[in-house]
Amino acid sequence: MDRRKFLKTSGVVAGGLMAHPVFGFEANDQAPPKSKKIRYAMVGCGHRGSGMWGKTLVDTGYKEYIDFVGLCDINPGRIEYTKRVINEPNCPAFSNFDEMLKKTKPDVVMVATTDSTHDEFIIKALDAGVDVITEKPMTTDEDKCQAILDAEKRSGKKVTVTFNYRYSPHRAKLYELLRSGEIGDITSVDFHWYLDTSHGADYFRRWHGYKKYGGSLLVHKSTHHFDLLNWWIGSEPEEVFAYGALEFYGKNGKMRGKNCRLCDHKTECQFYRDITKEPRLMALYAENEKYDGYFRDGCVFREDIDIFDKMAVQIRYMNKVQVSYSLTAYSPYEGYRIAFNGTKGRIDAWIKERQPWEELEDGDVIRITKNFGKSKIIRVMPQKGGHGGGDPILHAHLFKNQDLPDTLKQGAGVREGAMSILMGVAARKSIDSGKAIKIESLTTLKPKVSTL
Ligand SMILES: NC(=O)c1ccc[n+]([C@@H]2O[C@H](COP(=O)([O-])OP(=O)(O)OC[C@H]3O[C@@H](n4cnc5c(N)ncnc54)[C@H](O)[C@@H]3O)[C@@H](O)[C@H]2O)c1
Repeated sequence: MDRRKFLKTSGVVAGGLMAHPVFGFEANDQAPPKSKKIRYAMVGCGHRGSGMWGKTLVDTGYKEYIDFVGLCDINPGRIEYTKRVINEPNCPAFSNFDEMLKKTKPDVVMVATTDSTHDEFIIKALDAGVDVITEKPMTTDEDKCQAILDAEKRSGKKVTVTFNYRYSPHRAKLYELLRSGEIGDITSVDFHWYLDTSHGADYFRRWHGYKKYGGSLLVHKSTHHFDLLNWWIGSEPEEVFAYGALEFYGKNGKMRGKNCRLCDHKTECQFYRDITKEPRLMALYAENEKYDGYFRDGCVFREDIDIFDKMAVQIRYMNKVQVSYSLTAYSPYEGYRIAFNGTKGRIDAWIKERQPWEELEDGDVIRITKNFGKSKIIRVMPQKGGHGGGDPILHAHLFKNQDLPDTLKQGAGVREGAMSILMGVAARKSIDSGKAIKIESLTTLKPKVSTL
């Protein structure tokens, strides 16, 4: 279809989204600071902690809303880096989380450490009577998940899981369309996510390459995708069956080293990454290797990598919706295809996040096709800020506009955090056992037919 014909058949919805309270940056920006700032302590001063939960907050004016009262990390170099980028040279620094809790008495603890350690900090903060905001995935296995559920219950405090993917305008538009009944009742979903040889490979360079730290990409990465599915579908998962294999990275490579900077194969390896040209990675990781020996530019072909790089998952929901999901970590381009089949039609979307070809049209496309009817296209323009504009909206919801109604149910707590990781845990167990796994067999949580 040429561009003129395309424009006639399409609707551009970014303006409409901006008028909505949850998408309205103008509305968010007008929220006056409360009389008392939030006492904000953070554990985990790595890429995400120093960035999204540190520098980005400062750069977008959040010092009017929060006070950084403590920073904790096992790597003192990364604490110093974070202090510099948030311009808080005197912020108290801790290597011991208990001590930070006791001395700083925060209102909220932000957890941005390695995935498999989240449970320890979430539980300790809750038991100290402190609300928690945690990065995804909430945790990495069912026992830790149960312990978090129990801790939240006994403490009466709250865990928020930062599912920033829910906040991107395109995904929020999909949520609205599904709720509007445009395609009737959802019956099944096809969802396929492609990570490319740059971003996908990056998981294999880092701690994410080991199940014991990230729970495999089925937990670390798919927690986002499973959470989106749960939110869009409006039900909780009943049963999961999966296949998975490691057939590209890790032991499959023809050459390897320890890390790129020290490698003998720099000239012939397509995965050579020269982080000496990336000042932030050098400052955050390379300059702090002396404290923990952690390489940010680890070899993607290390033989002990034990996560899958291709995964196929079948999910049945409590409301009988069926999902076919896949995740591939070595694709030539990055993005996802999704289709919702309904009793009255179908919604298709293909989101290209990075690609080697030139894009002819702007915006993210959603196609709605009615059974026996016409097909129309809606175009959603990404907004300013990380994850298509989702990150700034999440910040506003957490620290500025907590009182605004959550019209699209984008806020996520311990239940949503649990459901999405349990799907990955179930997929892992299914790959190991060859059997379908019931979600209710994993923790005391009983999945609901409807969350609407
Ligand atoms: N929502 C998103 O889009 C998104 C994007 C990236 C990362 N994340 C999540 O953010 C978290 C951090 O990821 P990252 O990319 O910043 O990783 P990172 O490796 O850059 O940072 C992790 C930090 O945690 C510290 N740490 C590890 N164990 C610790 C412990 N026991 N006590 C104190 N500090 C400890 C490390 O020293 C490091 O500084 C992860 O849970 C990840 O899944 C989310």
